[in-house]
Amino acid sequence: METSTDIKRLKVELGKRSYPISIGSGQSAMLIELKERFHQEDRKIAALVDEGLAISSPDFLNEILSDVPTLKIPSGERSKSIELLNKSWNFLASERIDRTGVLFVFGGGVTGDLGGFLAASYLRGIEFIQVPSTLLAMVDSSVGGKTGINLEAGKNLVGAFHQPNQVIIDLNILNTLPKREFSAGMAEIIKYGMLCNRSLYLELVESSKVLSPENPELSGIIYQCCTEKARIVRDDERESSNQGGRALLNLGHTFGHAIEAVAGYGKYLHGEAVAIGLVCAFRLSQKLKLCDDESEDQLIGLLKKYHLPFELKTPLSVESLRNAMMNDKKVQKGNLRFIVMQKIGKALVRDSVDLELVTEVLESVGAH
Ligand code: GLY
Repeated sequence: METSTDIKRLKVELGKRSYPISIGSGQSAMLIELKERFHQEDRKIAALVDEGLAISSPDFLNEILSDVPTLKIPSGERSKSIELLNKSWNFLASERIDRTGVLFVFGGGVTGDLGGFLAASYLRGIEFIQVPSTLLAMVDSSVGGKTGINLEAGKNLVGAFHQPNQVIIDLNILNTLPKREFSAGMAEIIKYGMLCNRSLYLELVESSKVLSPENPELSGIIYQCCTEKARIVRDDERESSNQGGRALLNLGHTFGHAIEAVAGYGKYLHGEAVAIGLVCAFRLSQKLKLCDDESEDQLIGLLKKYHLPFELKTPLSVESLRNAMMNDKKVQKGNLRFIVMQKIGKALVRDSVDLELVTEVLESVGAH
């Protein structure tokens, strides 16, 4: 069994729905203990596991799930579909999971979002535990209770807010993560720096180190991101604030989601599309006369350091990208809202942005 070292803990404060996040290496013992506690309470457990994780970390999963009915979910955005959700509902029903049942979800953003929505909708809601397996899921999607699936018309258009009971981040899982996936997670970390943590951004820019799963600094950086996310979710759980609130976490995402949808899911990892989206958000901010004193070279240098794209791999049509943006969840009464930055470390929402500026920004990253 793995031994755990130096576990960092924090809490998402949401009254009765508050829950802990633990971050550290070697958390299988804690997961087994949790499972045994549920079994002692006579509660059934089922698991949803990302197929890629099942291949890369079989020992870790067997140790925890050998006696737990498990459904494997193919890796990739296409799994956030009504077909996979239907299969997952039927899986829980065939295992006779009742309202006291608990779902363990092991995987990245895709399995996490699907599993969360499964838990939100099955029997009108059961408890679930998130065990994120990608850096991106560790710093963002596993925390905060946004769950859902995609439609042809756009990403995450069907879903629910349903908070997990616990988030357990085992850093050992990152050792098996493909380098490209790790880089994609770095895009979300850079996003936190740009939207609310200037010192984190500057630390990443100025450090001579390129972070990797082996770096001892990584757990502190994940902790910082989860702390920011927990604060933002506590203050605006359902993204209803007019002051920005949780919507600010979507910095780079209006552009990023459009790029993913128009390029075809799978061409870009979510974090890669967000990286290009961050460049777009930076340039849009400057066109709006914000972020004047900030260096674009610094941002591009940081993205290059983590092998992240800063322009489109192949050109996409401006019109298609703009249409895809109109399907974004942030569209209200036909008005597209953009998250921009006043400066690095301070994001804000802008309504009624001139679409000519958006076109210029899209062209600057290679759209035509
Ligand atoms: N990933 C954005 C949010 O959780 O609100």
